[in-house]
Amino acid sequence: MANRDAPSAEAEKSPSLFYPHHLFLEALTAVAVLLILTLLSFVWDVPLEEMADPGDVTYVPRPEWYFLFYFQLLKYFEGPLVVIGTCVLPALVFTLLILLPFLDKGETTRIRKRPVAAAVCLASLFSVVALTVISVVEDELHGYRMVLPPITGEQIAEGEDIFGRFCQICHSMDGKGGFIAPDLTQIGSRANRAYIERVVLNPQIVSQTTIMSLIPLSDPERHAVSAYLSRKKETGQKK
Ligand code: HEC
Repeated sequence: MANRDAPSAEAEKSPSLFYPHHLFLEALTAVAVLLILTLLSFVWDVPLEEMADPGDVTYVPRPEWYFLFYFQLLKYFEGPLVVIGTCVLPALVFTLLILLPFLDKGETTRIRKRPVAAAVCLASLFSVVALTVISVVEDELHGYRMVLPPITGEQIAEGEDIFGRFCQICHSMDGKGGFIAPDLTQIGSRANRAYIERVVLNPQIVSQTTIMSLIPLSDPERHAVSAYLSRKKETGQKK
């Protein structure tokens, strides 16, 4: 029976060689991961967004979550300095990770006895997690990250009703309504749903001095209005 208390001590006594033992295990793992990913790609569809619309200037592109930390890093460097974020810092980090086994030559695999290696890895991990969280929170605060419920017929009807009650005093729609604000008859052709949501949440994103007031709609009410308005397109001459 193996001594359960000191498995790592035992392993340390007979270190296996990087080549071929460790490399073989790594290669095996890589092939297994590749196979699993390939299988998953057959089973699950890629979560696509709506069709890209080159006329839509309100779309806020964002990378997938696993690249958000990198994306966030780039926000801290502007103009010619951006190269620091895109190349210099990542190159430094990767060089450090590659050099790590040579900088910290300890033979034990116990984390506590490898403070340098452990500190560098933890710091990298922490930076990635922190940058990802900051990116998500910032987008949340600006209303960029919106998970909108799918549009239903009911929602559109409710949205039309809310629009009539709260918005049409200022905005005209299909020839009816106020004239002190832009006509929204074809708003769906020039703005997407997330933009409409952002305007209702914070009218000042349209202009700092806007007279559009903050209308206290509940989340479902706002989703209904944005669903209704986003369907008001040039082609949709329905009503
Ligand atoms: C007090 C008048 C007023 C009310 C009420 C009002 N708005 Fe506005 N809205 C404006 C004005 C004025 C603008 C144009 C922004 C500017 O330049 O000031 C605007 C802009 C907008 C825009 C951007 C239009 C574009 O072309 O980019 C949207 C979308 C919008 N409003 C939606 C709504 C919705 C939805 C409601 C109801 C929940 C609403 N508004 C209520 C005055 C109003």
